[in-house]
Amino acid sequence: MSIDTDPKSRRDQLFRIHSALRSADNLRPDEAFDELIKLYRLWVEVGTVEVDRALARRFGVELSPVALQAASGSLWRLLDGADEGIGGELFQELADVAVRSGLGQYFTPTPVAQAMADFLDPQPGEHWLDPFLGSGLLLGAVALAADGPLHLYGCDLDKRVIRVAALEAELRHPHSPLRAAQLSALESPVTVLASVDAPKGGVCGIVTNPPFGAVDMNGNGTSNFRLAQDRLTPIEVLAVEQCLRLLAPGGRMGIVLPQSVLSNKRLQYVREYLRTHSQIDAILSLPGEAFSMFEGVGKASVVFVTNTTGAKRSVWFGRSTSVGWDTTGRLSGDEDVRAVAKALRDRTTLRGSAEGRPLNADMDRNITAEWQIRAVGDGIPLGELAERIYLGKTPARALYGSKQEESALRVLKVGNLTGSGVDWTDGERSYARFKKLPADRLLQLGDIVLTAAAHHPRYIGAKVDLIDSFPSGWDGRCLPSGELLVIRLTDNEALRMALLLWLRCSDGRAAIQACVTGQTAHLHPEYVSEVRLPNAVVSADLSVAASLLERSLESRRVSEELQAEANEHFTRLVNRDINEAETRETDVLKSLQPV
Ligand SMILES: C[S@@+](CC[C@H](N)C(=O)[O-])C[C@H]1O[C@@H](n2cnc3c(N)ncnc32)[C@H](O)[C@@H]1O
Repeated sequence: MSIDTDPKSRRDQLFRIHSALRSADNLRPDEAFDELIKLYRLWVEVGTVEVDRALARRFGVELSPVALQAASGSLWRLLDGADEGIGGELFQELADVAVRSGLGQYFTPTPVAQAMADFLDPQPGEHWLDPFLGSGLLLGAVALAADGPLHLYGCDLDKRVIRVAALEAELRHPHSPLRAAQLSALESPVTVLASVDAPKGGVCGIVTNPPFGAVDMNGNGTSNFRLAQDRLTPIEVLAVEQCLRLLAPGGRMGIVLPQSVLSNKRLQYVREYLRTHSQIDAILSLPGEAFSMFEGVGKASVVFVTNTTGAKRSVWFGRSTSVGWDTTGRLSGDEDVRAVAKALRDRTTLRGSAEGRPLNADMDRNITAEWQIRAVGDGIPLGELAERIYLGKTPARALYGSKQEESALRVLKVGNLTGSGVDWTDGERSYARFKKLPADRLLQLGDIVLTAAAHHPRYIGAKVDLIDSFPSGWDGRCLPSGELLVIRLTDNEALRMALLLWLRCSDGRAAIQACVTGQTAHLHPEYVSEVRLPNAVVSADLSVAASLLERSLESRRVSEELQAEANEHFTRLVNRDINEAETRETDVLKSLQPV
C-alpha cells in the first residue's frame, strides 16, 4: 500500500519524523513541530533539497545537520509520494502530532470535508469563514468545490495551526486567499469579523468543526450567549449560537457536532434554539470511525442550516456508513459520505440512508438521523409488552466487596453477557454490598438483558441474554450494572423467546441501534419502549426456534456444571499431591533430625 493512500501509515511516518527531530536536537514537541512546518514550506517553495542547501536557505530552519539528515529523507519521500490535492490530509497528520494543549485539535477527515462542501455548494465571489480554523482543511474543501475564487476567513487560538492553514491555502487554492487571525471565536461577532476584515454584516457561509467537550475559561462561557444559561458551557454549544450570529441573513452553514448535542436530554434546549433561530436543512450522521483516530472524540454528525427564520422546509436526514477507513485509521474500502451528502442536497430519497421528514417541535427530543429515519414497521411497542424496562445500577467503587459479606449482591456486568446465555463466572468486582438494598432493580428469571452503555455505539445491543438461572445461592440477589438495560415482559413465555430471538437478529439490532443517544453511546428505556416488535414476529409460530433456544441454554448450564466439577476435581487432586509431597518432605526432615 502506498504511503499516500493510507492515513494510518502517513500518521505513523509523520510521528516518526517528528520524534526523530525531537530526539536529534532535544526539542520540545511544539519546537519540533515548528521546524516541520518550516521544512514543509521549504518543500512547497523549492521542492526536495540537500541538507546543506536547506540549512543555507532563508526558511529559518534551526535544525542541526544531524537532525535534518535524520528527518528530511523520509519527509521528502512522504511529500513527494503524495498525490496532488492531499496536502490538507498531510497537514491533518502534521497537526495531529503537535501538542494538543487542550484545544480540541483533531481534524475533520477529508471525505467529510468534501461532503460538507458538496452539500453547501459554494459560489464564486462568496465570503466563507471557519471560526475554528485548525489546518484550514474545511475552507480548503470549500475553495476546491467552488467554480471560481472565494474570500476565505478563519480564526484559531493556536498560532501554529494558523501558520499551517496559511501555508496550506497558498499551496492548494492560491486563487481563494485566506485571511486568518489568532483570537477566540467566542469574542463578540463584531470583533471576530473585524479581526479578519470580513463583511460587517456577516459571511455567506460557515464551515466548521469546533472542539468537543472543551470549555472556554475566558468568561465567554457565561455571558453574551443565550445558550450558556449562566454556567460554563461546552464550546460546541456556544459555537452553534456564535456561528449563527456570524452568518449574514440567508447565509448557510455546515457544523460538525457531537451526537450529544443532537440527542442528550440535557441539551434539548440547544436543538430548540437551532429550530427556532434557523432553518435546519439536513443532518448527516457520520460513521463512528470518522473521528476514532482521535482519542476522546466520539460519534458526530454534520448539521446544515440556513440563517433564516422564515418558512420552514422539511429536514433531510442522512446516514453514512463508511468514511473509508476503520477504527484504527486503516483503509477499509469506499466511503459513502459524499454520496449521502449529495442525496441530502438534492433531496433525493435513498431509503434508510437519506430521507426527508417534516419539521416539527417533537424533533427537539432527538434530531439524530438514526432516530428520525429509523425503520418503524407495524408492530407492538415494547412499552406495551413490558411490565418494566429499566437500567441497572453500578455500585460505587467503595461498595465492592466479597461474596461472604452478609448484604452482598452479585453484580451482573457487560462481561457476563455472551449473546448466547449469561456466563455467571465470577470476575473482578462481582460482589457489592449496599446499605439500602436496590430492591426495585434486582433481576428476575425471564428478564432480557442487553448492553446499554459503551464508548462506541456499535457495542449497544450487541449482546442480548435471557436470565434463565441464577448462580447457586444468589436467587433474587443479582443486580444488573448501570451499563445494562433490562426488559421484563409481562408473563408470556412464547413472546419472551420471540423477543430474544428478534433482538439478536439484524433487524432487532438495528431497531435498538436507532435508540442510541450521546457522543459515547447510551440506551435509554424511554426510547426502547418505543421500539416495535414486528407483528410478523409476534404472530409467527416460533415454537421450534424457542425450544432449540431453551435446549441451548440448558446445555450451557450443564457445560458450566461439568466445568465446575472438572475444576474441583483438578484442585482436589493437585492439593492432594501437594499435601502428600509436604508430608513426604516432613517425614524426610524428621528422619534427618539427630536422635
Ligand atoms: C476540532 S479542530 C477543527 C479544525 C478544523 N476546522 C478542521 O475541521 O480540520 C478545532 C480547532 O479549534 C481551535 N480552537 C479551540 N478553541 C478555540 C476558540 N475558543 N476559538 C478559536 N479556535 C479555537 C483549536 O485550536 C482547533 O484548531
